Amino acid sequence: MSYMQRCFRCVSILIAAVLSVLTSVMLAQFPGMEPKHYPWSDTSLSPDARADLVIKELTLDEKISLLHGNGLDFFQTKPSESNGGAGYTVSIPRLGIPAIQMADSAYGVTQGARAGRYSTALPNNLGAASSWDPQMAIEYGALIGRELRNQGYNMSLGGGVNLPREPRNGRTFEYQGEDPLLAGTLVGNFIKGVQSQNVIGDIKHYAVNDQENGRNAVNVNIDKRSMRETDLLAFQIALELSDPGAVMCSYNRLNGDYACENSYLLSDVLKKDFHFKGFVVSDWGGTHSSAKASHAGLDQEQPDQYFFGDALKKAVENGEVSQAELDDHVHRILRTIFAKGLFDHPVVKQVPDVEAGMAFAQGVAEKSIVLLKNDKHVLPLTSAKVRSLVLIGGHADVGVLTGGGSAQVDPPGGTVVPLPPPGPDLLSMFLRPAWLPSSPLRAFKAQFPSAKVSYVSGDKLDDASAAAKSADAAIVFAYVWESEGFDLKTLDLPDEQNKLIEAVAAANPRTIVVLETGSPATMPWADKVAGIIEAWYPGIRGAEALANIVAGSVNPSAKLAITFPKSDADLPHPKLVLPPPESEPKFPGPGGDFSEFMKTMAKGLPPFQLYYDEKLKVGYKWYDAEKKTALFPFGFGLSYTTFAYSGLSISGQDEPTVSFTVKNTGSRAGTEIAEVYSSLPEAAGEPPKRLVGWSRIELGPGESKQVTVPVSRERLSIYDEGSNTWKVVPGAYTVMVGGSSQDLPLRKDVTLH
Ligand code: BGC
Repeated sequence: MSYMQRCFRCVSILIAAVLSVLTSVMLAQFPGMEPKHYPWSDTSLSPDARADLVIKELTLDEKISLLHGNGLDFFQTKPSESNGGAGYTVSIPRLGIPAIQMADSAYGVTQGARAGRYSTALPNNLGAASSWDPQMAIEYGALIGRELRNQGYNMSLGGGVNLPREPRNGRTFEYQGEDPLLAGTLVGNFIKGVQSQNVIGDIKHYAVNDQENGRNAVNVNIDKRSMRETDLLAFQIALELSDPGAVMCSYNRLNGDYACENSYLLSDVLKKDFHFKGFVVSDWGGTHSSAKASHAGLDQEQPDQYFFGDALKKAVENGEVSQAELDDHVHRILRTIFAKGLFDHPVVKQVPDVEAGMAFAQGVAEKSIVLLKNDKHVLPLTSAKVRSLVLIGGHADVGVLTGGGSAQVDPPGGTVVPLPPPGPDLLSMFLRPAWLPSSPLRAFKAQFPSAKVSYVSGDKLDDASAAAKSADAAIVFAYVWESEGFDLKTLDLPDEQNKLIEAVAAANPRTIVVLETGSPATMPWADKVAGIIEAWYPGIRGAEALANIVAGSVNPSAKLAITFPKSDADLPHPKLVLPPPESEPKFPGPGGDFSEFMKTMAKGLPPFQLYYDEKLKVGYKWYDAEKKTALFPFGFGLSYTTFAYSGLSISGQDEPTVSFTVKNTGSRAGTEIAEVYSSLPEAAGEPPKRLVGWSRIELGPGESKQVTVPVSRERLSIYDEGSNTWKVVPGAYTVMVGGSSQDLPLRKDVTLH
């Protein structure tokens, strides 16, 4: 052995010795790191069997510790096990049971700013739903699951699937649109993606929490059939697809009882009829009792322990809550920890793959941005057509808007539009619009290198008109900020933006409006502009995606997952139902006592009534039944090419399979979302039609493809309240196929028995 080799060997031995000493020191310091073997470590056992083995070892206090949170991290004064997210349950180190660390994550992991962490802001959920792309929903969820783990979390609080009975709902941007099949399929796939990363997925807000105003007090009145075929059906479809680890019960009361102590919702429907195996977690401050909530099926209180801490322990000790009921709650939580991989794959913090996140976000935006109007093929704008282009308003010089509230993903480096000063109360301190650093001006300059691309703010109408007049084309960026905590007063654009658009349209016939909204918007100027694009809140690479679409390097394919009405007057509830003052939460001002506030909320606010008397007629079903013409209907969206439908045939008696041909009749490649609807027999008492399936088809210029869409019997069934079953009503069904809910050129009758 040479001198060098001997030296190398000595150094290696020394390093190995030092490492081994360090490892023993670390294991002594952090006993949790030691990989111990427990009877429940056996991965050949089922999650249920593993959970039962743990339960046998747990003390009453340990059981209770799994059933509640430990206060909001924001207001923690003592060191805790919290990872800084919205909530957590403590670990049980002696048994190797990990803490459940939860973070909001609707369109990305939230609260990054507080911890100096980056996470990818994807396009918002309603935007991504416009892709009608279940595979993309899986990848969207997987990215969020990965970034949650990267940041030390093992449970997502994304998965919002409430239907827009009230499209002015301040959280419409977090949901998946108005059709239960589309919304349920997409959120189910989102959860599949999240859970593929050994992270618990959660679907929320269960149920019929369809507006923000008065959400903690409102009593929603709705009949069972309407609920089962609309709002609850979206949950059912998502649950069947993804087996989520958790369902979050909502703040509102439903037919008299709070959702988190509503035995119809939690026990009869969720746990019995839907066979839900995971745990029910309350929305934050949505628990209002111990025994009643426990009997009804609530498994975990978050973020506090007013009812599921000592109070529940007492209820168990005095027999008000049985040991079996307690063990069922504990079992559901432990089973989920095993079933979703939290025990076998402990979280290891890592730097998220920022570059990959941004590239994915751009791809999602390109599939989410909806082309609503394209008069005389004004779009795509080509360098040959435009030598000068002006962008007007919407802070298009610096960034794109995001949706706010608990879903807020913090912009890397801070918001690029200075925040307005915080309001006097806690709510308006937190809820302020944040803009991501994805600059349309920069992206358009890159797309049109030989054109003069400029920006004017739109604050002064005269300046905007003058700039529009002197440019070959003008793009007005209009926006509506939306957030948890309040509803939009109207679907009309705020702050004189309609006037700005009218002024620009009068100055330049090539005016294109880009909307950044989380809900539908009304457009009194729709006939006066040449192009309209709905970009939603398009995420961290939103501007780049938009520029690709405007310049035509990407052909738009997205279609609306929500109806755009002509005006508020056409909505089922033309006026928002607002809470009386006594049912409004009184937020403490800065320096106020937030825990006192939480306690008051826990006691509950006086109820007020909201009647969903449009019943089954949600979204396009309302417009169809009431014969109202929408501004832009559900399922609508243009492409730079055109498609033709032909040759509808239906085979299979019990479960029809629908086949047809779609042809790209234009000269460039494109993707068509082909939609299949069906009417039900008169006796079913249903709205005129419902979506029963769809397919995304990529077609080269002139290419035709035969498309097959299987339609399951469930999608043609109605819920029968008397027998609590789903039934196919025998009779004549008309199957309709086409490119939008209002453009269905193919029709065929089929009789079902
Ligand atoms: C929201 C939930 C959220 C929770 C935790 C609540 O206010 O309604 O959607 O997951 O806070 O942040």
